[in-house]
Amino acid sequence: MAGKALWSGRFAEGMDDSTLAFTSSLDVDSVMAFYDVMGSLAHVRMLKQCRIIDADDADSITRGLITIAGQLRDGSFEWDENLEDVHTNVENTLTNMIGKAGGRLHTARSRNDQVATDYRMWLRDAALEAVEAVDRLIKALQTVAAKHRDTIMPGFTHMQHAQPVTLSHHLLAHAFRFGRDGDRFLDALNRMDRCPLGSAALAGTTYPIDRKVTASLLGFKEPTENSMDSVGSRDFVCELSFDAAMTAVDLSSICEELIYWNSQPFGFVEMDDRYSTGSSIMPQKKNPDIAELVRGKTGAAVGSLVNIMVTMKGLPLSYNRDLQEDKHALMTSIVSVTECADMLSKVVSTMKVDENRMLKSTNDGFINATDLADYLVTKGLPFRDAHAVVGETVRYCIENRKTLDSLTLEEFHRFSDLIDEDVFQAIAVRSCVDRRDSYGGTSVASGDVEAVLSESALMAREDAVRTKKQLIANCWKELLGERLPTVRL
Ligand code: ARG
Repeated sequence: MAGKALWSGRFAEGMDDSTLAFTSSLDVDSVMAFYDVMGSLAHVRMLKQCRIIDADDADSITRGLITIAGQLRDGSFEWDENLEDVHTNVENTLTNMIGKAGGRLHTARSRNDQVATDYRMWLRDAALEAVEAVDRLIKALQTVAAKHRDTIMPGFTHMQHAQPVTLSHHLLAHAFRFGRDGDRFLDALNRMDRCPLGSAALAGTTYPIDRKVTASLLGFKEPTENSMDSVGSRDFVCELSFDAAMTAVDLSSICEELIYWNSQPFGFVEMDDRYSTGSSIMPQKKNPDIAELVRGKTGAAVGSLVNIMVTMKGLPLSYNRDLQEDKHALMTSIVSVTECADMLSKVVSTMKVDENRMLKSTNDGFINATDLADYLVTKGLPFRDAHAVVGETVRYCIENRKTLDSLTLEEFHRFSDLIDEDVFQAIAVRSCVDRRDSYGGTSVASGDVEAVLSESALMAREDAVRTKKQLIANCWKELLGERLPTVRL
């Protein structure tokens, strides 16, 4: 039989070992121990302030909790596997340490509001780390983009040569995507910026608590508005799971590109030795395994979104033990996405770009065909007719193994009399790029505007993250005194 539970009064017999093993969440929620202690420190301070427990008990609970925070930091905290979760472990250790007063800590709260609070605080830090990692990747993309403002490469649609673009334009497209990923995490954090603590089991409490005090001590904007919603809802988990999954999907997209850019037929980039792997059999191989693994981890991240959505489907209010299944998948995916973004920023910032290969590759696939059509439009032809003329010209080139730029004026005249000597300038790839100077287009001038926009969005996000982290650090400092620990997720 397992050890004595905190609620053993009601039970004539102890839990069977298998029941404890099956219901225990310690393997997952022990990582939230620091946040559990912070939640308790805020709670006891509020209980004291509201005169719900007396000052002596409150002070000894506070001292005990601060000692536990120290034990967690130096690894000396002793976990009792016979207690089913992090909350019971912390409370039990406290009571063993300070005696009966420890039993007063659980006044006006329940593990249901505790776990909802701890998890939000854990996720808040994890999401901020994810945003920072995504921002480091964005910075790496911006740096490479800045070096390649006028490096020309083929732009693709349907994986076919479409129109020439600059490498900067291509990389900044990813940077803007990742920017939205970062913003989405911050949006979710704003929505979950309410503290469930004090909602108790489901219905609130009979004690005269002040939830605004605990909320602000823990760095939340305000308390949650409804106690049943507080303990029974996990839309914040769904939302962050989506944010992580979306980031993973976006990471997989750039990884896919880097993998084929790095392949022999393309040769657009070469990944640095330090961020490549070899083959046990083929001595010549240098493989882009980091990018492949990042692409491969998308499955788990998307799976974690499905996992929580299905867990929540049809779940009645308020707390149900099903909710214990809300942690593993998201905790894993948010940490994984953070690591993936960090690894990828190393790959991006160290890869060698082969500008010549990129430029040369624009010779294939009639990448300047739209420009020839646009040229005919400037000569007065409606675009639809110009499209047909160029289509025929391209067919002629394919049949005669020529490129558009290698046609003579006489050959052009088979298709349209409107074509003059100035056509060669109009369809040169560099002018194809330079003339796409619409807002958000690929010209070097438009690209410079994009780079500024991307950088200022990054700075705004970095500011927001810094402010939030500072607020949280101040809270921990206030609750722990000067003994500010480094939080490890
Ligand atoms: N371990 C639980 C969870 O993660 C929290 C404890 C609530 N348990 C309960 N029996 N009310 O959701």
